[in-house]
Amino acid sequence: MAPLQRWEERSLPPGPGSQGALRALEGHANDVAPRRPPETRPGVLNHMRTPKQLKVAVKTRVERGRVSPVARQVFDERLTYLSWRSLRHLEKAVRDASRIPGDFIECGVALGGSGIVIASLMPEGRTFHGYDVFGMIPPTTEKDDEKSRQRYEIISGGKSKGIRGDDYYGYMPDLLERVEESFGRHGLNGQVAFHKGLFEDTLKLDGPVSFAHLDCDWYESVKVCLERIYPVLGSGGLIISDDYHNYGGAREAVDEFLAKEPGLEIAHMSRGRPDRTTSIVLRKR
Ligand SMILES: C[S@@+](CC[C@H](N)C(=O)[O-])C[C@H]1O[C@@H](n2cnc3c(N)ncnc32)[C@H](O)[C@@H]1O
Repeated sequence: MAPLQRWEERSLPPGPGSQGALRALEGHANDVAPRRPPETRPGVLNHMRTPKQLKVAVKTRVERGRVSPVARQVFDERLTYLSWRSLRHLEKAVRDASRIPGDFIECGVALGGSGIVIASLMPEGRTFHGYDVFGMIPPTTEKDDEKSRQRYEIISGGKSKGIRGDDYYGYMPDLLERVEESFGRHGLNGQVAFHKGLFEDTLKLDGPVSFAHLDCDWYESVKVCLERIYPVLGSGGLIISDDYHNYGGAREAVDEFLAKEPGLEIAHMSRGRPDRTTSIVLRKR
């Protein structure tokens, strides 16, 4: 298993997202804050009022600078629930897995944001396969935690809000058409295939897989994905389970699978703090 610290360090490229940039921006903030009221400070951060808000804005800008233009675009288009940090980890894993022959899979496409990021980074000649019900998410079971069950109640009760106040994607009758349109807008028509329905019915794989992004929230969903994908994952191939630190059922499904399958190892586990990504990265030996 690779040391966790090294994985994190390797995923911090130099450039606009470097620690130096953060320090420079923070230094600038510290310099100007006592001298002028916030509303008269020069620069694009001048609408921020407290040092805490300013720090959050600086961090956000740094994180934003560390991902690809495509990731920035899908975030701005409100096509993904992933945080900047999760997007960065996703991009790094897709690049790492690209040297392994096979296709790229996402289980849990929703509006297509993370799928567009994956498909835009995968090497030529590969195919992106997106699996989703493209409708109402299936129910939780007794294997899911209270937080997941409460979330499902809100969704199934018609009370969920979407990204930054949008309509919730699960209530859209034409979700798949919208997703196809979004992939097309990003120039990704030729290399993608969508599979509408429950994973239990649609996830039937025979070809080699290099990379899989599991962003499907509940225990049963994560479990079936691991069981179907692991046998066709190439040696060195990667699986990200996005909800590992977010939903108890997703975590349990991963932990159970790791306990029974020694051929799968943890490549990177974030520390699960609120400012960290919620995901875990698994690698086939
Ligand atoms: C959190 S969303 C995916 C978010 C997306 N990856 C993004 O970039 O924001 C989870 C998706 O998984 C789908 N899903 C969960 N369990 C499923 C199952 N068993 N079969 C098919 N789709 C499932 C839901 O319908 C939902 O669209």
